[in-house]
Amino acid sequence: MELVKTKSVVVQEADTLHLTTDNLPALQPGEARIKVQFASICGSDIHIWHGHNPFAKYPRVIGHEFCGIIDEVYEASQQHRVGQFVVIDPVVSCGNCYPCRIGRPNVCKTLQVIGVHRDGGFSQYANVPLKNAYLAPRSVSPELCSLVEPYTIAANMTAFLKPTPQDCALIYGAGPMGLTAVQVLKNVYQVAEVIVVDRIAERLVRAKDNGADYVFNNLQQPLSEHLAGKQPTLVIDAACHPSILAEAVQVISPAGRIGLLGFSQDPCTVTQQSLTSKELSIFTSRLNSSRFPQVIEWFEQGLVQPEKLVTDRFALQDAEQAMHRFEIAVKHSCKVLLSMDE
Ligand code: NAI
Ligand code: MN
Repeated sequence: MELVKTKSVVVQEADTLHLTTDNLPALQPGEARIKVQFASICGSDIHIWHGHNPFAKYPRVIGHEFCGIIDEVYEASQQHRVGQFVVIDPVVSCGNCYPCRIGRPNVCKTLQVIGVHRDGGFSQYANVPLKNAYLAPRSVSPELCSLVEPYTIAANMTAFLKPTPQDCALIYGAGPMGLTAVQVLKNVYQVAEVIVVDRIAERLVRAKDNGADYVFNNLQQPLSEHLAGKQPTLVIDAACHPSILAEAVQVISPAGRIGLLGFSQDPCTVTQQSLTSKELSIFTSRLNSSRFPQVIEWFEQGLVQPEKLVTDRFALQDAEQAMHRFEIAVKHSCKVLLSMDE
């Protein structure tokens, strides 16, 4: 197999981002080489860049949200897949440990996340396990296909929360995670009422545009006053400040369910009484457990609107500028796309 040269966005060490040109490593058994077409920036890419991701090893080609064309495969028997336009599940798991055996590879004991533990997709080419490459949804523009991954976070969480049309949902945070959750709750699960709370007015406007029924700004006025006694039955914390759990427990309805996505190392303080007296359920959710087929189906059926999340587009060449834009322009930016074409 011939070696290819690839331009890649590499974090050499904390706070050091470079565009490098190097030989891509040779394919290993089970792998495919992807000629990346589009990628999208995620908060975790920024964390790796600034050295705030405890799982990342440096130097690292970042990027775990990407799509592209299968360019070469290791196994001759898989040759028929060359040329397919695919989206990549970043979860690489062992398949043998307890979580893997019960269908939860996203918390595999030796989990490897593409773009975190191993090289990712902000690159012209990337090597990935072939089984992580799914045929991209056909009904949407190719540039939107890297957004399948962020929706799998909402798919994983809602698989635990089991939303119903009777629910009144409260979502903390109108960033990409909160907005994908709004779309999924409204359009996939037909939840009657979805409330979004954030402290940035521009982001709340976007939440409404993405289907939220009510939006509240809790910067000046506490959430409990906005709610005026209304008790949500389902809460998703997509803001992830450790103080949120206690407030959620206070405002939620008895028999409610709470979904947490955060990775803060600071404690959340709640009493047993506040949980047990309402018989609350708390779920946590990390990445996704084989949810790509489900989300690809949602894209194909038009149940989600990924185009509503895209605010900025950059070429791979300008990746550093794109990362700055994503990080600093929080009022105006949501998903920032990278295009790999020259
Ligand atoms: P983001 O930073 O774009 O959005 C968070 C939003 O929450 C911001 O708009 C911010 O203004 C708002 N916010 C912060 N504190 C608040 C508070 N006390 N009340 C109301 N709003 C508040 O982040 P993004 O990308 O949407 O991700 C959200 C969180 O989800 C992050 O903490 C991230 O680490 C986590 N995450 C977890 C994943 C998982 O698999 N468990 C996957 C992806 C993200
Ligand atoms: Mn992501």
